[in-house]
Amino acid sequence: MSPFGPDPQTFFANVYRGPAPWDIGAAQPALQALFAALPPEGPVLDAGCGTGDLAIALAERGLPTLGVDFVAAAITEAERRAAVQTRAVRQRLALRVGDVLRPADITPSAWGPPFGTVVDSGFFHLLDDPARDAFVTNLRRALAPRGRYYLLAFAVTFAGPNVPRAVTEDEVRRRFDSAAGWRLLHCAPAMFTSRIAPVPAVVACAQRRDFQA
Ligand SMILES: C[S@@+](CC[C@H](N)C(=O)[O-])C[C@H]1O[C@@H](n2cnc3c(N)ncnc32)[C@H](O)[C@@H]1O
Repeated sequence: MSPFGPDPQTFFANVYRGPAPWDIGAAQPALQALFAALPPEGPVLDAGCGTGDLAIALAERGLPTLGVDFVAAAITEAERRAAVQTRAVRQRLALRVGDVLRPADITPSAWGPPFGTVVDSGFFHLLDDPARDAFVTNLRRALAPRGRYYLLAFAVTFAGPNVPRAVTEDEVRRRFDSAAGWRLLHCAPAMFTSRIAPVPAVVACAQRRDFQA
């Protein structure tokens, strides 16, 4: 079962009734730094886009970007933030209420699949192991050949209910190894910025490898 109980959608909808701890009003600095080193290519899927700052930042980089979140209030807020962007940015941005774990909810869209990039700012660490397995399988299918997955996830598990489950560097290296059809371009300790306190995290970039290439 999800670490967030039998109905994670309702759990997250309730969090968005107030300021969400992860809503820092900007894209996560660790991902922005990784984009500078390994520039993403479009089209982009932002999985669990929340209030949209990362999707907007990617559209500002010139990349057609689809942001998907299963909480309607988060997408409404993302649309409000998108509305004050330039016309060019708005035209590159699509925001959608949907479940990232259901491929049907991202297919079809204006921009993909296949996606040149999937970004994940605090989504993967919400999942239990079976959901992580399924997500990585679907991720590989959603990416274009040589497409990249950028991940920022908590590297620690806090005590208590309804908390993310740590993503270790070992797990990232195991899930995204060459035998599984990936090339791990980056995997390092990082910080996940929040409204409460910075959290030790892992930041990674894995590229879909194509055996015939
Ligand atoms: C920790 S928040 C991060 C939000 C955003 N990426 C950010 O960095 O600010 C995780 C987000 O994933 C969304 N989410 C969780 N499970 C989801 C699912 N199965 N499909 C779509 N969105 C989901 C939540 O509603 C929440 O907005």
